Amino acid sequence: MKFLSSLSKKQLAGKTVLVRLDLNVEASDIAHSIRIQRAIETIQFLCSRGARVVVASHRGRPQPLAEAMTNDQFPIPKISKGETLRMFKNVFQKALKEKVTFFDYFDFKKIKEEIAQDSNGIFLLENIRLLSGEEQNSKTLAKQLASLADMYVNDAFAVSHRAHASVAAITRYIPSYAGIELEQELVAFKRAKQKTADPLVLVLGGAKISDKIGVIRSFAHAEAVLTGGGIANTLFAAQGEYIGKSLYEKNVSLDDITRMKNVLLPLDVVWHEGKILDIGRGTAREYGDVIQAARMVIWNGPMGLTEQKKFRIGTRALWRAACASKAFVIIGGGETTSFIESIASAPQLRLKHIFLSIGGGAMLDYLSGKKLPGIEALERK
Ligand code: 3PG
Repeated sequence: MKFLSSLSKKQLAGKTVLVRLDLNVEASDIAHSIRIQRAIETIQFLCSRGARVVVASHRGRPQPLAEAMTNDQFPIPKISKGETLRMFKNVFQKALKEKVTFFDYFDFKKIKEEIAQDSNGIFLLENIRLLSGEEQNSKTLAKQLASLADMYVNDAFAVSHRAHASVAAITRYIPSYAGIELEQELVAFKRAKQKTADPLVLVLGGAKISDKIGVIRSFAHAEAVLTGGGIANTLFAAQGEYIGKSLYEKNVSLDDITRMKNVLLPLDVVWHEGKILDIGRGTAREYGDVIQAARMVIWNGPMGLTEQKKFRIGTRALWRAACASKAFVIIGGGETTSFIESIASAPQLRLKHIFLSIGGGAMLDYLSGKKLPGIEALERK
């Protein structure tokens, strides 16, 4: 795999670089999102070395446009506020003090001409999932994207579990590199996957239950697996415990996991209107102590319904324990990181022993031992 960080200023100056970012962030989270901060740092890295930057990303899961709309109609009609990338023109312009050109059409010939007219600057494509070829990993779309630039950078770990044209197929047609953010993720996860004698603790909560089951199986060697949220409810239900109307998943085979001695269930929980909505204070203390004694912690998923203030206590307590711990801590999952981004102080966010991953599903797939198409594509190069 080749890394963007290894390229010199000379190798980048005057080049046009297509960067795949993951700008899949709610409008209300943009200001404090690490996904966006790291995207800005990567663009800055390229601009400061004299490259022209073309940004491609998805946002949400839009219905792809009919073919006729993609080339001939300007601008592309009807894109919802949650799916357009238009607002990033201002976000990048403000943060980078550079001109940003936003293309609200997908006529690649015209886009290429526009890029050629500027010797530097940032160019932003509209949501790439509006093109049906993206999710089909289409060679045609990959070639069209590759035609815009001299080199390609994948800096979107969070979408690297998708075999999509701007993530995987594109690497066949243009020199391709792992970006700065992706490199940080790979370094952190490599460290986590090394089976050392150090006590490793896995913390799993939130929804996406079946994906997390795979992670538990891959980390059978973990000293402890601390469970909360939907995953704990599913395990309670599998053992015949009462969970009322709480979120859980039926029809998942858990016999092997319920037998695992290292998998801990909450000792006490917070009930509200017939549902379990947080771990209790006793559990928060117990889990906090385990985190503080660990040497490596991997955490994905909140312990409670963090959208509501009164059910944040458990997740907040574990965040404090992670900050105080001597362990190397990796935290990922959209819900978990956006909650932490909203409560963490600036010094906490600078703690060297904590790595906030931008990956949600990608993190779970990677930890479960699945191959990520975006990463495999870079390795094949
Ligand atoms: C994410 O937010 O996890 C990524 O952007 C991937 O999004 P997706 O699940 O829609 O592919």
